[in-house]
Amino acid sequence: MTNKLTSFIIILGFGWILMSATIDLDNLFNYANQDIPDYIFRDNTDDNPIDDRTATLGRVLFYDKNLSNDGTIACASCHIQAHAFGDPDIQSTGVNGLTGRHSMRLVNPRFAQEEHFFWDERAETLEAQTTQPIQDHIEMGFSGTNGDPDMDDLINHLESLDYYNTLFEFAFGDTEITENRMQLALAQFIRSIQSFDSKFDEGLAQVDNFTVPFPNYTPQENMGKNLFINTGLEGAGCADCHFPPEFSITTNTQNNGVITVAGMPGEIDLTNTRAPSLRDLVNPDGTLNTPLMHDGSFTSLLDVVNHYNDIPDNPENTHLDGRLMDAEGNPQELNLTEAEKQSLVAFLRTLTGSDMYTNEKWSDPFDPDGSIKIIGGTLGIAEESLSPFISISPNPVVHTTTVEANLGHFKIQVYSSTGKLLFEKEADQQTILDLSKQASGLYFVIVKDEQGKSYSKKLLKR
Ligand code: HEC
Ligand code: HEC
Repeated sequence: MTNKLTSFIIILGFGWILMSATIDLDNLFNYANQDIPDYIFRDNTDDNPIDDRTATLGRVLFYDKNLSNDGTIACASCHIQAHAFGDPDIQSTGVNGLTGRHSMRLVNPRFAQEEHFFWDERAETLEAQTTQPIQDHIEMGFSGTNGDPDMDDLINHLESLDYYNTLFEFAFGDTEITENRMQLALAQFIRSIQSFDSKFDEGLAQVDNFTVPFPNYTPQENMGKNLFINTGLEGAGCADCHFPPEFSITTNTQNNGVITVAGMPGEIDLTNTRAPSLRDLVNPDGTLNTPLMHDGSFTSLLDVVNHYNDIPDNPENTHLDGRLMDAEGNPQELNLTEAEKQSLVAFLRTLTGSDMYTNEKWSDPFDPDGSIKIIGGTLGIAEESLSPFISISPNPVVHTTTVEANLGHFKIQVYSSTGKLLFEKEADQQTILDLSKQASGLYFVIVKDEQGKSYSKKLLKR
């Protein structure tokens, strides 16, 4: 009896360890080299290419409630993986109340044509966007106003958390935390979120041209696709602004006639000119992921189609996009039949994938109690394995030193004394290492030959 109980407890404990969230620095998820269909050519990465280490740090930041001033809200509180990284609530709850706009789904942000972010495009880049919620009084509360702490207070707090010492050093080579580094990491993680396993992608892969009927579509879905793509008498003109195959919004778009403000009846807002990609509007289970539009006022796809079918004539709206007006400058009336409306809805439903909702690489790495376990990332390099072929001179080094090895083409990795990789480079016969930016102390230099055999050397920086 007692034995049975003991083994039950052991099994329970073991199961808990397996289930508990862990970041394994020796086995990172693939963020940098994911498959992207060859018909996708838009990419707003610019000069912050995704790196698995930095995106891993971004994942931890995205899910960390320490980024809010009372420890209750993470980015992921309003951007929920199971809802295409959006929020089923019309207004999201932050540390000081409700957001003024509806949260946005984060679907293929990397492949968006419009590179300014937020509904009103006020963030110049995704990098610039990522720390604004942190500095927002309502959302995460490090605003430095209204008695809030500021960004420096947050950075001081993050510096006191051991796992960020490890993760920032792992990503950037040293433990320093800056707002810029947080932006780079968060933007890389968000750009890595991609969804290309929809029925639309299957169809497009088969025929390589989105204007011809897809063999895997029903006649209704093909009819909806035609309406979406075409303008004038044959179409509803949606692709004028939500261009396939990314379905991101085009640049220089004005508002689409939805001008009310969430939670403020009677107010108007003409500034909303961006939408997330129209991919993954619905969940794989068929329900809407989130209410739609900046004010979350549409709760079905049919609502959306009805809106575009007959855009309200509101004289206060001086910024309705010209593509949504008729020849006389009045808001458009498409005069769609019931069957046409239903076909547009059926088509929009084919834009949903499944992987993004469950893939662990985009999931919460924290345990429910808020703890996180980081393993790996250190080397068993306590001892120096001497190799007659390798010389490092001068050693100790002041600024730069030359590494020479009779190994043909080889790779050099420089590690801190705690086993964190600082940088690596490839060389033939010899190369110069620049340690002028590193702190003084002990470093390990690992030289790897083309067969993968490695030799380690100690290096002292003065
Ligand atoms: C309290 C809820 C909340 C929190 C917390 C939050 N967001 Fe948001 N997020 C929103 C809302 C609401 C919007 C739209 C706001 C607007 O346009 O004015 C938004 C928009 C965005 C966008 C723009 C997407 C696009 O396509 O333009 C990105 C990216 C984003 N958030 C990332 C983040 C990151 C990163 C964090 C954490 C540092 C975060 N969010 C924290 C609610 C939240
Ligand atoms: C003139 C450009 C334009 C055209 C044409 C257009 N849209 Fe939009 N669409 C927008 C803008 C701008 C938004 C964001 C508006 C807002 O939230 O206030 C948007 C938002 C949406 C959304 C909500 C996205 C979300 O995440 O909440 C859906 C769905 C949508 N459009 C579908 C369509 C369909 C279907 C058509 C064709 C019948 C269409 N659009 C035609 C500009 C356009």
